[in-house]
Amino acid sequence: MKILAIMGSPRKNGNTYKLTRRVEEKMKQLGDVDFEYLFLKDLDLRPCLGCGACFTKGEDHCPHKDDRAMLEEKMHQADGVIFASPVYVFNVSGLMKNFFDRFAYVCHRPRFFKSALMLATAGFELGTGQMLKSFSFMAEVWGFTVAHSFAIAANDVLEFGTRADKAEKKIATAATKFFRAAASGRVKPGLVNMAVFLAAQPSIRKLSAEYYDYHYWRDHGLA
Ligand SMILES: Cc1cc2nc3c(=O)[nH]c(=O)nc-3n(C[C@H](O)[C@H](O)[C@H](O)COP(=O)(O)O)c2cc1C
Repeated sequence: MKILAIMGSPRKNGNTYKLTRRVEEKMKQLGDVDFEYLFLKDLDLRPCLGCGACFTKGEDHCPHKDDRAMLEEKMHQADGVIFASPVYVFNVSGLMKNFFDRFAYVCHRPRFFKSALMLATAGFELGTGQMLKSFSFMAEVWGFTVAHSFAIAANDVLEFGTRADKAEKKIATAATKFFRAAASGRVKPGLVNMAVFLAAQPSIRKLSAEYYDYHYWRDHGLA
């Protein structure tokens, strides 16, 4: 099974990486798993220009010719995707937000019907609930079914925290749930997946044929 981990910290060997490696170790105890790490900090993924060409004409019309298409292909090839980010000011890091902005067209044309694990590290657990909610929502709007989401305070990841046992349990639960979901290959659309799809469908049906979304939804039997 192939797992892709998309890393949103500017610190390559930071807490978020250490936590993801712990999830990897646990998953490898459960079965045959290949991990690939993509560090957003090392990729050429420029900030969105806001031209809207990806929405109206299609993503191939994005003026940036960078690593976006490669990233999308990697997500298609994986059996499951881990999105990992530090909590920055009660939300995902800027690197992670830019990544989601560059794939905004997927909110209009969902395609990743597979399992995701949302993982965060924080200084404190304060504000992590709302961060995980919006983090998970982004992936769900793209079509992912979120098998699990969790945050851990940095001290716990580094093993000198007072709540290391609790952290260990959280890591084991996340690894088991995500392993099972990704290995089964079956994804049951969740409430957010269905709500977004049903809310978008009537508007897409009314679109004129000059919009790329019109063709995508019809070509994929969605409209
Ligand atoms: C700019 C910045 C903003 C942060 N904002 C928060 C925050 O809102 N809440 C929190 O609990 N921790 C916050 N932190 C702490 C980080 O989330 C925490 O140290 C995290 O584990 C860093 O991950 P990394 O080592 O992978 O970079 C912030 C850190 C930085 C540098």
